Order: sequence, then structure tokens, then C-alpha cells
Amino acid sequence: MKKTMLTGVRPSGNLTLGNYLGAIKNFVDRQEQYNSYIFVADLHAITGYIEPQKVKESVKNSIAIYLACGINPKVTTIFKQSDVLEHGTLGFIMTFQTKMGELSRMTQFKCKSNQQTKEGVDTGLFVYPTLMVADILLYNTAIVPVGKDQQQHVELTRDLAERFNKRYGKTFEMPDVYVAPVGNKILNLQNPLEKMNKSDNGDNKGTIFLLDDIEVAKKKIMSAKTDSYNNVHFDEDNQPGISNLMSILSKITDESFESIEKRYKNKGYGEFKKEVAQVVAELLLDIQSKYKTYNDEIILDKILKEGAMQATNIAKQTLSRATKALGLN
Ligand code: TYM
Repeated sequence: MKKTMLTGVRPSGNLTLGNYLGAIKNFVDRQEQYNSYIFVADLHAITGYIEPQKVKESVKNSIAIYLACGINPKVTTIFKQSDVLEHGTLGFIMTFQTKMGELSRMTQFKCKSNQQTKEGVDTGLFVYPTLMVADILLYNTAIVPVGKDQQQHVELTRDLAERFNKRYGKTFEMPDVYVAPVGNKILNLQNPLEKMNKSDNGDNKGTIFLLDDIEVAKKKIMSAKTDSYNNVHFDEDNQPGISNLMSILSKITDESFESIEKRYKNKGYGEFKKEVAQVVAELLLDIQSKYKTYNDEIILDKILKEGAMQATNIAKQTLSRATKALGLN
């Protein structure tokens, strides 16, 4: 029997090149080897205020992008998190099994709660990792492909699964995280000390969105911040901007850093950026042309309906095991 692979993406706005290279591409490349599940994490989108209409639009938009990126609904179950009520219930149970300290230590919480201190920190931000724990455990997941920023949450999942299994008897499978060696943290093109994020200080010059206009995306690469070494060389500490562009190129084309360095020996950054811009443009063109085909209410509704049924079937069995173990039924 195939092992299970699962990942999810929050539907908060357009998906980025970071989401694609850090998570979706790794999932697509492996979807046939596993019993595969990918979902739109819409409950995670409401950890803070977000316009309801925006959530609704982003869900369908995300599914159409998944399909355009190569997720194959014939081998992968695609669903919306809120369609499977078991996520909320198991998330609630797992929150009760978690120490305050474990959640306070989460890097994402520390970063984001610092930005929220004026209005008060949302509890959603504090407890969302335990919902992610439930997302993963419900499907007996063996492998979770994510970017580096989500690794800690998968490690928390392992800790909580182990604690639950010790206390109440073997209930959950232990998931492993898969963080790819290249492209696990794509950086902001204007500030290569920060991660490329869906929200980017308003001007979005540092973030490439998968549905960006092709010429705009090329310009973003051409004006990416680099350094004055004038040497195409992979050195994340001293040349983060150039190393980031090398990661983008290498992840899309599979060319090694050594080979890229060799080809650009004694050549300027302008020429190098042109190639990266071209390769990214081709990737976006391909995704965008497929997106047009898949962005169809009838196709998307059918996929979501089938996905919800298949996912609910497994999730129900796991939740029932957990509630039984707890003495709740
Ligand atoms: P989210 O929506 O922030 O990001 C989705 C996926 O994209 C990866 N990613 C990146 N990888 C490389 N470079 C970047 N700049 C970059 N930005 C984002 C993320 O690491 C992630 O893999 N909580 C999760 C969604 C989630 C989930 C889950 C994932 C909910 N439940 C269960 C896996 C399993 C999140 O907010 O990801």
C-alpha cells in the first residue's frame, strides 16, 4: 500500500513563486508515488480578520492554480479544509494536549505576534499550529512537503502525536517533514534577508505572484537587489540576493549551483538576471495558460465535491479512533 503525502496552502491572496518552489512543485513531482492529498487551508485564513468575499474567491483561485501547477486530480485528492468538519474537532482536541510554552516557541507566532501587539494578538495566531497538527494527523500522513518556515509546525505534530499515542495508545501515524535542499526559503527580491511573502509591504516589488503579468514579473527579477561583488556565486550569508536568484533558477531548471557558477564566470549580473527572468516568465506563462482552462466553476465544484467526500471518509475514521481512545465514545 502507498504511504500518504499531504500538504496545504492558506488561501490568503495570490499564490507566490515561493509557495510553488517551496511546496507545490515538490508535491507535484511526487504525487504519483504516494496516496496524495492537497487542500486549501481556508480555516487558517481566518486566524485574523480577512474579508469573507476574499476568502471565497481565493479558495477557487487556489484550486485552479494547483491544477495549473500540475496537481493531477486523478491521483491526488484535492479539497477544502472547511468542507471536512473533522479538522475543527481534532484541532480542538489537539489544542487541549498542547503546552502554552510549545505554542509560544513557534517562530511564526513570535514574528507575527510582534507585528500585532498594538491591537492585541489574535488567539488564532497562537493556536493555529494545533489545527495544522490535526490537518496532518487526520490522514495518517507519512510525508509533509513544506517550505522551511513550516518545518517547526510539522515537528510539533510529531511531538503531539507521540504524546497522544503514549497517553492513550497508538492512534496516530508519525509524519516526516520533507524540506527540499534547494528553494525551501525563497527570499523577497527587494529585501533578501526576508522570506518572499504573499503580503509584501504594499508595493509587491519583492514578490512574484504566479498570476503576475509576465512583463511585470520579469521587471521584478531584473530589479532584484544583489551586491557589489559582481560574481555569480552561491553564498547565502554574503550574497543573499544572488544566491536567491540562483536557487530560483536551479529549482526550476534542475541545474546545479556549480554549473550555473561555471557558465557565469566573468559575466555580469545583468546577463544572469535576464536568464532567470526568462525562465521564470516561461514557468508563469505555462501556469497561466493552464489556469485559464481550469478556472471554471463546473470543473472546480466537481473536484471540491469529490475531494470532500474522499477526505471526509478517512478523516472520520481517524477522528473516531481518537475520540474512542479518549473515552469520548
Ligand atoms: P502558507 O500558505 O504560508 O505557505 C504554503 C506553503 O508554501 C511554503 N512557502 C515557501 N516556501 C519557500 N519559500 C517561500 N518564500 C515560501 N513561502 C511559503 C510554505 O512553507 C508552505 O509549505 N500553515 C501552512 C498551511 C498549512 C499546512 C497544513 C501545510 C495548513 N495546514 C498541513 C502542510 C500541512 C501555511 O500557512 O502555509
